[in-house]
Amino acid sequence: MKITVKKGHVLEHKTPCLVLGVFAGKYKQEPLVQLDQQVDGAFGRATRSKEFTGRKGETLLLHGGSQAPAERILLVGLGKESTFSLDSLRQVTSSAVKLLVQKQQGVFLLALQQLPIKKTAPAERIQAVTEGVLLADYRYDRYLPKAQPGQPVSLERIDLLIPGEEGTAMAKAAVAAAEAIVSGVCFARDLVNAPGNLKSPEYLAMQAVAMAEQTGIRARLLDRRELERQGFGAMLGVAKGSEREPYLIVLEYQGGAEGEKPIALVGKGVTFDSGGISLKPAEKMDEMKMDMGGAATVLGVMQAAARMKLPINLVAVVPAVENMPSGRAIRPGDILTSLSGKTIEVLNTDAEGRLILADALTYVGRYQPRVVIDLATLTGACIIALGHQAAAALGNHEGLMRQIIKAGERSGERFWQLPLWDEYADLVKSDFADVKNTGGRAAGTITAAAFLQQFADKYKWAHLDIAGMAWEEQGKAGQPKGGTGFGVRALVEYLRTEK
Ligand code: BES
Ligand code: MN
Ligand code: ZN
Repeated sequence: MKITVKKGHVLEHKTPCLVLGVFAGKYKQEPLVQLDQQVDGAFGRATRSKEFTGRKGETLLLHGGSQAPAERILLVGLGKESTFSLDSLRQVTSSAVKLLVQKQQGVFLLALQQLPIKKTAPAERIQAVTEGVLLADYRYDRYLPKAQPGQPVSLERIDLLIPGEEGTAMAKAAVAAAEAIVSGVCFARDLVNAPGNLKSPEYLAMQAVAMAEQTGIRARLLDRRELERQGFGAMLGVAKGSEREPYLIVLEYQGGAEGEKPIALVGKGVTFDSGGISLKPAEKMDEMKMDMGGAATVLGVMQAAARMKLPINLVAVVPAVENMPSGRAIRPGDILTSLSGKTIEVLNTDAEGRLILADALTYVGRYQPRVVIDLATLTGACIIALGHQAAAALGNHEGLMRQIIKAGERSGERFWQLPLWDEYADLVKSDFADVKNTGGRAAGTITAAAFLQQFADKYKWAHLDIAGMAWEEQGKAGQPKGGTGFGVRALVEYLRTEK
């Protein structure tokens, strides 16, 4: 599919379909008045009969009249102008594209990026619209039959119309940025959607290596022997129950000056979380193939950053393991010696994410990173606290927290900060080791972070618990059921603006 930038007046382009936005009740504005003439009054009749009012999510598909160069016109309701945001723009675009694809329309002209949104630049709006288009085109159909006649088509060509006074170079750069970002999101979604039988830790490692080769990133894998040699006791403890080999995936992207300290990203890569000996209940256990959502997002960000040629140095560390019960698995009560030298009492083998992250957070310290951000589907408690509307953000540096939350607001991915006061650290103190891997029922997301903090004490650090965000249960426009790639957009936005 190709996205091109065009100039000119909206109502003067020949196209199979023109997509226009309408704010609630605002029918008497240009280009709508002129459009109504082109369609011989059909728009006016639809609004007068309240068939179309401009409510958010409403659509009206008209066929062009005697004077319309467009064969069809799709009008999409935008709701109130005062609350219309960049994120609304992205969502409205996705809904429109979803409808057109269902109606077998693979070529159309979009004018939505011209809509007014307070405090936004044209480039941001063009990026949001392009993201909306591309996200709506995503599906995971690797295991489905090839498309049949009558099924939704794929997009062919989308033209974005910009006003004469806006620069074409600016618009093309915004489209290119959106393409890079969405490629990262879709890469992450594919990884999350892959079923557990396909997706071993080795598979995850091979996908990361292949992506790195394509984008000019350096990749290294630490296998079991190397992990043993170096003393990754916590990560290897989790890996013990599985027949499948663990890998530590290390990627290095150099877009900044040689020797400039990198930003490090760490992603939880549990390719399937059965709970181990502390086995999970059967219901919804299938969803635990998404327990490498943090890893997927980190890999997606690396791909996007490399494609955008961001002028910074990045390292990504992904501990990839499978958490399974077996005669060789670790047991509740076992004590592991982590890479940091700290000992960990394992009270629950289902709190495995923090174990593998402990070693990854220690390892990444070798790079003397200026910032470390970890992403993980870490706690069910996070879903209890925030549901599926926001990820939890915790850390040891207020400025970093604020930057991440702001980047999330700009990209339509929400983060909500939880406190990490010293008192919480008491809840993970163990009688038999330096720390224990559970802190009881209270404040489960925070005590998990308090555990991680013991291993992240040498740098500025943020922990993002994406348990409620990595997997979409219902499916909506721009986000079908399954893996979401949540965090790619926000983190790329953070990386573009952090200095
Ligand atoms: N991967 C889960 C957390 C999770 C649950 C993610 C649901 C997404 C949806 C994690 O490994 C886990 O099992 N956490 C336990 C920790 C507890 C044993 C302290 C939990 O949240 O129940
Ligand atoms: Mn678990
Ligand atoms: Zn887990």
